[in-house]
Parts: sequence; structure tokens; C-alpha cells
Amino acid sequence: MAERPQPRTEGPGTPRGGSKTPHDASHDDGLPRPVPRRRDVAAFDERARDYEGGWLGKLHHEIVNRTVVIALEGPTAPSRVLDVGCGTGYLLRRLARLCPDVIDLVGVDPAPSMLRVARAKSDDRRLEYCSGVVEQLPFPDGLFDLVVSTTSFDHWADQRAGLEQCARVLTPGGRLVLVDQFSRLLTPTLLTSRRGKARTKKRCSRLLVDAGFRSPDWHDVLTVIIKAAVTATRHR
Ligand SMILES: C[S@@+](CC[C@H](N)C(=O)[O-])C[C@H]1O[C@@H](n2cnc3c(N)ncnc32)[C@H](O)[C@@H]1O
Repeated sequence: MAERPQPRTEGPGTPRGGSKTPHDASHDDGLPRPVPRRRDVAAFDERARDYEGGWLGKLHHEIVNRTVVIALEGPTAPSRVLDVGCGTGYLLRRLARLCPDVIDLVGVDPAPSMLRVARAKSDDRRLEYCSGVVEQLPFPDGLFDLVVSTTSFDHWADQRAGLEQCARVLTPGGRLVLVDQFSRLLTPTLLTSRRGKARTKKRCSRLLVDAGFRSPDWHDVLTVIIKAAVTATRHR
């Protein structure tokens, strides 16, 4: 039987390298500043039951379908996969169908209703869903060889800490596929509602490298805005 991921025992998600805490606003390097944690989570919790319906549900499915193709283009087939901000679990269900050899497919999300729907739709014993935020991933170091995240990054309270945690739970050389809105067209929103977020390729690339990843390759996913950063952890 597959070995299940165990929650960390030494306290939740201690970030590597003295990372600033989510509420520490003392960054002096011009990079994204954290906003209060769980800001967007309540809204997703309310939408969970109908999340995969309607045109918005179709759009999310399309983004996920394209992400899965990109994720499976890697040099080696993944064994243990983590989906960060997994929502209702569509991406993991799709990967489970396409990848009979994957050992574990784990989703993490802070919205209880999203997790309830994901568990109810779960149709494969390799699927598992955990409550948690990316800034404090409840998994030991080096457990996964693929971390995927679709349209969640923009909602993370502390993107820097979140990426550091993704690097921590990956094996050395493990891959990250990070999909969200990245475009210079979004620059005005950085001055208003999405202040401090990494919403351009340049900002995100810099955060990824700072978090211990290689400089990413960028892929178009949908429209001119939805893009995938594909990268791997630098060997430690
Ligand atoms: C737009 S939904 C995307 C869901 C799914 N990945 C998809 O593509 O359909 C964003 C998800 O990110 C989750 N989320 C928000 N903040 C998060 C955080 N700090 N850590 C992990 N997940 C988070 C939300 O609860 C929500 O389920």
C-alpha cells in the first residue's frame, strides 16, 4: 500500500532561510509584500458547491486541462503529486485518470467546503485532501516530485513563503508548475486591489529564484494572461 503523507511534527511549515512571516511588512527589496492571510478563502468556501458549474467552471476546467498537459511534459513521470489550492480536486482527478502509475495525489486547500466537495467527488483511492495553507504546508521535506497549482497563487497571503514551502516539500530537482494570471497588462492592479502581488512574469520569476527554484520556463495556457511557470528546485 502507498505510504501516505504524514503531517509535519516539528511545527507547521517552518520556512527555510529565515523567511519573513506572513504579517511582516518589513521587506525592503521592492518585492511583493504579504497581505493578511485567508483574505480570499471565505469567498471560495461559499462558492464550492457550484464551483465547477457555469461558464466560470468551464474556464477553470480548460485551464486545468491545459496545465495537466504541460505538467506531464516533464522528463520523468511523477510519483507523488501535490496540488496547492486544489479547490474541488478536478486537476487531481484528471491526473489520476491519466497516470495509473502515480502513487499519491494530494490536494491541500484552506477552504473546508472546497475540500468537502473534493472528497465527495473522489473516485480513486490514491486521492487525498488535506486542510492547510501554502505558507505552512503540513508535509515533510522532499515528499513530492511534482507540485502543481492553478489559479491559486494570486490568492496566497504570502507568495514568497508559499513558494519557499513548495520548494521545501519537493525532492531536489522536483518540478513546480505554477499557473495564474501573469501579464504587464495587470500592472495597474498592483497599485490598487492586488497591491504587492507577483502578477508579472518578471516579479514571479524573481520570487521563484529567491525561493530556491531555477529560472522558470514560461508557457501560454489561455488568452494572453493565463500563463504557466515551469521550473524545478535547484539541487541542494
Ligand atoms: C480560484 S480557486 C482554484 C481552485 C483550483 N486550483 C482550480 O484550478 O480550479 C483558488 C483556490 O486557492 C485556495 N487558496 C486561497 N488561499 C490559499 C492559500 N494561502 N494556500 C492554499 N490555497 C489557497 C482557495 O481556497 C481556492 O480553493
